[in-house]
Amino acid sequence: MKVQLAIAIVTIALTACMKNNSSNTNSTAAPFANEVDSLLSLMTLEEKAGQLNLYAGSWEFTGPVPKDANNQQKLENIKSGRVGAMLNVITTEGTREAQKLAVENSRLGIPLLFGYDVIHGYKTMMPIPLGQAASWDADVARSGAQVAAKEASASGINWTFAPMMDIARDARWGRMMESPGEDPYLASYLSKAWIEGFQGNDLSDEATIAACAKHFAAYGFAEAGRDYNTVDISMQTLYNIVLPPFKAASEAGVASFMNSFNEIGGVPANGSELLQRELLKGAWNYQNGFVVSDWGSIGEMITHGFAADTLEAGYKALTAGSDMDMEAHIYENSIEELVSTGKISEEILNDAVRRVLTIKFQLGLFENPYRYSDTSREKADLLTEENLKVAREAARKSIVLLKNENNLLPLNKEGQSIAVIGSLAADKDVPLGSWRAQANEGSAVSVLEGIQGAVSNKSDVSFAQGYTLTTGRRKFVYELEFVEGDQSGFSKAIQLAKKVDVVVLALGEDCWQSGEGRSQTDIGLKGDQMDLMYELLKVNKNIVVTLMNGRSLAIPELDENIPAILEVWHLGSEAGNAIADVLFGDYNPSGKLPISFPRNVGQCPIYYNHKNGGRPATNPHDAGMVFWSHYTDSPNTPLYPFGYGLSYTTFEYSDLSLSSSEMNQAGEIVASIKVKNTGKVGGQETVQLYIRDYVGSVTRPVKELKGFEKITLKPGEEKVVQFTINNETLSYYRADLSFGSEPGQFALMIGGNSQKILTTDFRLVD
Ligand code: NOJ
Repeated sequence: MKVQLAIAIVTIALTACMKNNSSNTNSTAAPFANEVDSLLSLMTLEEKAGQLNLYAGSWEFTGPVPKDANNQQKLENIKSGRVGAMLNVITTEGTREAQKLAVENSRLGIPLLFGYDVIHGYKTMMPIPLGQAASWDADVARSGAQVAAKEASASGINWTFAPMMDIARDARWGRMMESPGEDPYLASYLSKAWIEGFQGNDLSDEATIAACAKHFAAYGFAEAGRDYNTVDISMQTLYNIVLPPFKAASEAGVASFMNSFNEIGGVPANGSELLQRELLKGAWNYQNGFVVSDWGSIGEMITHGFAADTLEAGYKALTAGSDMDMEAHIYENSIEELVSTGKISEEILNDAVRRVLTIKFQLGLFENPYRYSDTSREKADLLTEENLKVAREAARKSIVLLKNENNLLPLNKEGQSIAVIGSLAADKDVPLGSWRAQANEGSAVSVLEGIQGAVSNKSDVSFAQGYTLTTGRRKFVYELEFVEGDQSGFSKAIQLAKKVDVVVLALGEDCWQSGEGRSQTDIGLKGDQMDLMYELLKVNKNIVVTLMNGRSLAIPELDENIPAILEVWHLGSEAGNAIADVLFGDYNPSGKLPISFPRNVGQCPIYYNHKNGGRPATNPHDAGMVFWSHYTDSPNTPLYPFGYGLSYTTFEYSDLSLSSSEMNQAGEIVASIKVKNTGKVGGQETVQLYIRDYVGSVTRPVKELKGFEKITLKPGEEKVVQFTINNETLSYYRADLSFGSEPGQFALMIGGNSQKILTTDFRLVD
């Protein structure tokens, strides 16, 4: 094997500085600064530009030489050091082959990064991120990401394009499924845990991978919920709602950021100096990681009407702080010219290259470029019992009990006949969710299998498909075809429902209804599902709906008619087992909604932390008059609010008290509340703290989540939960975008969801 110059140089430097490999990319002393600088000093302009070039692999490296001329060109470019990273090259063999091209052929032998969308698992699927968010549990996020990193890194991947931390308020937007929901506090908390899970304490550990905070920023605010659409957002919303998780990611030392497809205030994110230079690399001092564009998005600046041509697009993106070009082929065609003609200083280029090289050093790629391409690990570490155990635990913690009239749930494992109805109930693929990396098609445990496995006597369980939801190709890249008006499966389902004690009816969405490019104007149930529900109700009222979906749905019909509803998202590999755990009471549901469920699509965007407005629904108004903020055909409130979720037990909140009714900016107040389990079984409750700043120099939301604690209580047990409120809790980004608090009256609210809360007031004084 040809010994490459860079590796030789680096090996010498490494022996001197092995200690310098912290994965915290935001620490003040730049990790591997000497190694990076000595390598940089050897690089030509072309090689530097090459490090900023990210190609997608669309060929098999393990197979015959690609026929496609473009792919052939890509191979040549890798060999000549004009490529810094690849995405969608998978398997140890594939990545090894590609790495070999770079390391053994290019002049400096700089290894490639291998990026991939490992969003909620690689082979073993965890619940979709929105589902995980319903757990309100950092352990769920962290351990799921750990498993994903272990599996992906065993297959040659060293960089994931996750976590996605876009705040999502609009269920029409299909990418809500990848998001931690509508709240910046919860999103920051979970994003930090996801990053810890992917990256661990040491990026050079072979079971950890570099993470990527995306999409920077405000991608979730696409107008009308239509993916890739324009974003028009105020600075206050940007700073107070959208950016907090990204700031938390920077503080957590995330290895990279991905910017977004959208524009903000007329500037595409790729060209945003405000976001990338001023904030991220300026005010937040993010020094040791890099910013990658989204797929082709540097080129899309031309389509946006922000750059006239390739050269201008390259200029604007690099100057603004986008370090790496994903598949737009703009940097490879513009950087050398821009720098050699003096339009861009070499220092700007060096800064970008330095960032990319730093992560490569941290990953240990210079020590061993093949460290993530270990065939024995690939055989041993994927889809193991241990990984599946983590997936089952995450899945059951992500389930939300939306309704349980007359304690229809939990069901009995013995002596109760159960009809399982609905094509989604037998589906082994849909629960895997969208963005499923290398999950084996059809490898999830279905609801039917989960139930059959849990009951004492399998003959108590019968099945009818009832409806067919989709037809044709069900793939990431294609539009779905929905089946409408086929009720041929109804009669069998009705016959079964007539005979049994209880019906478990699986309704919801195909997994390919959500994810990228999957915006919808209708967020109810597609096809014949509702019709079937009404028909079944005529013969059996004991219906439990398990609702599978990747967004919040408008389902007032279910809420009105169905006694028990479980929100089960797309729960991943162990979906059916986890659902059975909850259905039969082996696990008492504890999930809480990370998003508001609207009553109808017309309410979107809907979110709990809205402003009061001048004519709010809570103001006194004359019945029958129209002059207040409302709909004439729907209440303003959501069907199920943010933070909502029931349990098989009940919790009573009482004795809300404050250590003082007044504090100054140097002080603090401790809020206490008593929570009692008033039911018959043990359970877990998420106690939520909300604050309202009544009067601000700019208007403030009616409430904002500022803390939560998960507690476990036995029947009859009570606990006092305490939250400390300090100046930071009360601070926000004001009109001039400075961060601080303002003296005045505040409301403090504590409860089990964002609507059912006990409230008291306190004052912040000068
Ligand atoms: C486009 C998506 O927006 C982004 O999230 C993803 O990481 C890239 N494609 C790469 O697949």
